Amino acid sequence: MTPVVLTIATPDEMEALGARLARELRAGDLVALDGELGAGKTTFTRGLGAGLGVRGAVTSPTFVLARTHPREAGGAPLVHVDAYRLSSALELGDLDIDWPGSIVVVEWGAGKLDGVADDWLQLAIERPHGGEAESDAEPRTVTITGHGPRWAGLDLAPAG
Ligand SMILES: Nc1ncnc2c1ncn2[C@@H]1O[C@H](COP(=O)(O)OP(=O)(O)OP(=O)(O)O)[C@@H](O)[C@H]1O
Ligand SMILES: [Mg+2]
Repeated sequence: MTPVVLTIATPDEMEALGARLARELRAGDLVALDGELGAGKTTFTRGLGAGLGVRGAVTSPTFVLARTHPREAGGAPLVHVDAYRLSSALELGDLDIDWPGSIVVVEWGAGKLDGVADDWLQLAIERPHGGEAESDAEPRTVTITGHGPRWAGLDLAPAG
């Protein structure tokens, strides 16, 4: 796929993007989220979890490395990983994750996926205006890049 660059104005829009992408995901899929502290990785994942219909709130998994969220209607659970403190693909691969049976979202995944997966969808979230206030709505630029054949045909045009 050709990388897609989106401007996401608010946290609500970021959640909506997550919910939109959730419609494309199935068991075995991997989504890597990158962007500085407070970029919006967990906000995106919250929307993705809502789109998947997971049970319970999606919060930052910082203290558990990986949290599994079963879905109300069954099907592949969402596994939400915070790889901030992992230094390599080796450590990520060592986590006890059912990769083929789950939809895995990895915060801070950049550079840690080679060997763990052949295909993944990468979202790079940037704050073009910098800024200090984390809670106020402020635009983000989200660049979506597909790695591997799984994502070659992804079409994110608005669907009816
Ligand atoms: N356009 C936007 N998109 C997403 N979040 C936004 C936006 N504007 C403001 N925010 C705020 O930025 C913060 C993003 O926090 P979030 O926990 O999602 O970031 P994160 O990338 O997961 O951080 P960390 O690296 O600490 O895990 C939230 O407080 C959210 O309300
Ligand atoms: Mg986070």
